[in-house]
Amino acid sequence: MDGVTVIDHPLVQHKLTIMRNKETSTASFRRLLREISTLLCYEVTRNLDLTTTRIETPMGPMDAPTLEGKKLVFASILRAGNGLLEGMLDLVPAARVAHVGIYRDHETLQPVEYYFKAPEDLANRLVIVVDPMLATANSATAAMDRLKARGASNIRFLCLLAAPEGIERFRTAHPDIPVYTAAIDSHLNEKGYIVPGLGDAGDRMYGTK
Ligand code: PRP
Ligand code: URA
Repeated sequence: MDGVTVIDHPLVQHKLTIMRNKETSTASFRRLLREISTLLCYEVTRNLDLTTTRIETPMGPMDAPTLEGKKLVFASILRAGNGLLEGMLDLVPAARVAHVGIYRDHETLQPVEYYFKAPEDLANRLVIVVDPMLATANSATAAMDRLKARGASNIRFLCLLAAPEGIERFRTAHPDIPVYTAAIDSHLNEKGYIVPGLGDAGDRMYGTK
């Protein structure tokens, strides 16, 4: 699928299967999400530009590779995005962080924004937006609209599970934003949940249901 990368690494798939299992505890779910996010982070950052910097190793001078450009921004769509954010920050501790507070209304499935805080200078930075679930894509699409309105133009979206309907909608609304996901599931049910999915990511992370 154009613009969509499925991260099918065996470790990712194995951990995802445990997360999907309804018998998996809240504590294990949260730990696995953090573990999996480091593996996903590795893939979503795979083709970052490098430059070189002159250093002295104990053996002599070297032009050594370093990341080029301004520091990355990780944008978490609250609440569940924070489960991915933690592991990403383990790998890129210097990244800047944006928080986009959005929940979807259970009746209408429309996004409701309740919080937004982002670094001032989003233009000229790569912004990696994280949320475990891309279902109708209403939340992710609204988050992208918001970040673009604040100047972001180089954006990637990372999730754990996506529905085909969500990918279609997201790519139509934001064809410039590549999507990275660990799996594309079968479909959405009548309540807008991903099937087979893993249930409500926020509730499973925080034990709120
Ligand atoms: C979940 C999930 C996404 C959204 C996906 O969040 O984390 O943000 O639903 O659904 P959509 O693609 O149909 O918009 P939720 O609204 O449950 O909020 P929470 O993270 O606070 O639990
Ligand atoms: N949000 C979730 O947390 N899970 C779904 O399956 C759909 C939306």
